[in-house]
Amino acid sequence: MQNRRATAIGSANIALIKYWGNRDPVLRLPSNSSLSMNLAALTTTTTVEFRADLAEDVVKIDDAEARGSAHDRVVAHLDRVRALSNINTKASVLSHNNFPAGTGLASSASAFAALTVAACVAAGLRLATDELSRLARHGSGSACRSVPGGFVLWDACDKDACSFGRTMAPADHWDLRDVVAIIESAHKATGSTEGHALADTSPFQATRVATTPARLERCKDALLSRDFPALADVIEKDALMMHAVMMTSTPSLLYWRPATLAMVQAVRAWRKDGLPVAFTIDAGPNVHCICPAGAAPEVESLIRSFPGVERVLTSGVGDPTTTLLDSPRI
Ligand code: PMV
Repeated sequence: MQNRRATAIGSANIALIKYWGNRDPVLRLPSNSSLSMNLAALTTTTTVEFRADLAEDVVKIDDAEARGSAHDRVVAHLDRVRALSNINTKASVLSHNNFPAGTGLASSASAFAALTVAACVAAGLRLATDELSRLARHGSGSACRSVPGGFVLWDACDKDACSFGRTMAPADHWDLRDVVAIIESAHKATGSTEGHALADTSPFQATRVATTPARLERCKDALLSRDFPALADVIEKDALMMHAVMMTSTPSLLYWRPATLAMVQAVRAWRKDGLPVAFTIDAGPNVHCICPAGAAPEVESLIRSFPGVERVLTSGVGDPTTTLLDSPRI
C-alpha cells in the first residue's frame, strides 16, 4: 500500500445534558442519552499517515511522544480503522490541541473525533457521518458528539449500530457562548473512563438515569425555542445531578475546588440580577458559563477578575469535524 495521509480538525463539546456511566463499558454504550454543543474555539487537529516503512505506530500529542494508556488508546483506535479497511500498515499520528488537555475540557472528544475522521480518510474509507460518529464513540464516548456539528443529541440505545451523535440543530441556530473559567489546568486525578465505571456504585445513579429523559426533553424544547431561562434551569440541574453521583460513588469523586463552588454561587447571583448566564461542570474543577453571545463580554469580565480563576476561554458553537485539504508532512 502507498503512504496515505489525511488531516482532520475536530472541536470539543460541552454536554448540556451529561453522559455519565456505561451500560456496556467495552462498546461505550451509555447509561443515558446526552445533548451537547460543539465548541468552535477548542479544537484538536490530527494528521494520520499510514506508512509502509513503520514497524510500530508512532503517536505524538502536543509535540510529545504519547506513552502508556494515551498511546494504547490511539493504537486501539487505529486497529479499529485497520480492521474496517483491511490494511496492516502502521501509522504515524500527529495531534495538536489548541487548549490545555486534561482540564475537564473534554480533549478526548475532539481528539477521537479528529483521529477517527483523519484515520478513515487516510485509510481510504468513505463513511457517512453517523458511521464516523459511531466509530469515534469506541475511542471516547463523548467523541461521537463532536463528529456532527452544532447542537448534538446522542440517543441512548442498547446496540452498537444505533449509538451515535446526530445534529439536533445547526451551529447557527442559536448564538450561544461557553465562557470557560479555568480554575485548575493540571491533569485531573481520575479520568472519565475510570469515572464512568464507578457511576453505578452511587445510590443516586439509578435515579439520575431514570430522570434524564425528562430533563433531555426540557433541554431540547429550551434549545429549539431559544428559551434561555428554561435552558439555564435544566442544565444546572443536570450538572448537579451528575456531580451528586460522582461525589457519592465509591471511591468518591470530588472534582470541585473552593473556587468552583464560589463561581456556581456567583453565576446564580448574576442571573438573579438579570444577566443571562448558567453554569455546567464536567469531570474537572472548571466552570463552563453558558450565555447568549450578547452577554459574553460582561460574563468574561466578571470571570476574569474572579478569585481563583487562572484563565478564561470563550467559544461559540462549533461545526462538524472536517478534513483539511492541505495535510502537512509528518
Ligand atoms: O467521553 P468521556 O468518556 O470523556 O466522558 C465524558 C463525560 C463528561 O464530560 C463528564 C460528560 C459528557 O457528557 O461529556
